[in-house]
Amino acid sequence: MSQYITETWYVAAWSEEITGKPISRTICGKPVVLFRSDGEAIALHDACAHRQYPLSAGTVIDGHLRCGYHGFEYGADGVCVRVPGQDVIPGNTHVRAYPVVERDGWVWIWPGDPDNADRESIPATTWLSDPEWDGVRFTNRYECSSGLLHDNLLDLTHEAFLHESSIGDEAVFTNGITVEVTAAAVVVDRFMPRCHPSDLYVTAMGVKPPVDRWHTTEFNLPNLHVIHCGVGQPGASRKDGYHLEVLNAITPESETSCHYFYANVRDFAIGDEQINGIMRASLEKVLEEDRFALEKQQAVLDAGNAGGPDRLIAQDAGVARARRMLRQMIEAENRERQ
Ligand code: FES
Ligand SMILES: [Fe+2]
Repeated sequence: MSQYITETWYVAAWSEEITGKPISRTICGKPVVLFRSDGEAIALHDACAHRQYPLSAGTVIDGHLRCGYHGFEYGADGVCVRVPGQDVIPGNTHVRAYPVVERDGWVWIWPGDPDNADRESIPATTWLSDPEWDGVRFTNRYECSSGLLHDNLLDLTHEAFLHESSIGDEAVFTNGITVEVTAAAVVVDRFMPRCHPSDLYVTAMGVKPPVDRWHTTEFNLPNLHVIHCGVGQPGASRKDGYHLEVLNAITPESETSCHYFYANVRDFAIGDEQINGIMRASLEKVLEEDRFALEKQQAVLDAGNAGGPDRLIAQDAGVARARRMLRQMIEAENRERQ
């Protein structure tokens, strides 16, 4: 049984990563070559139809991807258009072409049945391209399953311990959560009235305690968490506070590794490079702390050393709902394939 959900859009890369120089990226266990031709981002299976040489080791010539071994050339649709030294191209010589959509600086790929690739189903990411929002972004690859990273983002109580020196504060575990499930998302909201705003917020926003703080993780299944965060004056409306949108796109590479595209954008201090520098340094550390914990967890699981099933607690209500929904999505796809 496949453990991947493939009938969905995944972020494959940031737009600027895709150029005339092909790159290779494994997505849901499949090697993919990504490149740009005539301005369009293209994704093809990364193995030549001739003798399986990786096309990512080739070059883009006149809009075609030329294999670096014997020179077969492929168009954007994956069809071979040239075989050096002969006019006749063997029938049906092609590699798989994946549907691609480029939006707000992210390049999305559909690894499932191309007939199901509905571009309208890509979740909103407009903060990434809106000039009213500014921030920092990272591309990471973690040696852990995408499931461990989903759990991490749905249970932010870990901020108080793993990220104690930056975004952590005990308010994230002394305050409970509410969980809402919609057709497409699991939404976990935590409101932290009259709390300390965390050291990073004090530095970046200059706010003084106490503040009201909140974060709402909107997990658009199966792969995008948008965390709507903010702080404001005690008792004031959330809309009058400082707002941050934290976008986390998680793309399985293998069953025990994933690509992690991250952006942290805000609606204040626009264009302030000093704030960007503070945020970048602090969040880089946060992301490395998450990597450390998740890769350690994966190593325990890989070694077969889990002491038993996870003991979930009240703060895991969102984790439990999301796990169940992800499992149902995988089972539905596997049934469909039979
Ligand atoms: S393996 Fe690509 S042309 Fe031979
Ligand atoms: Fe974290």
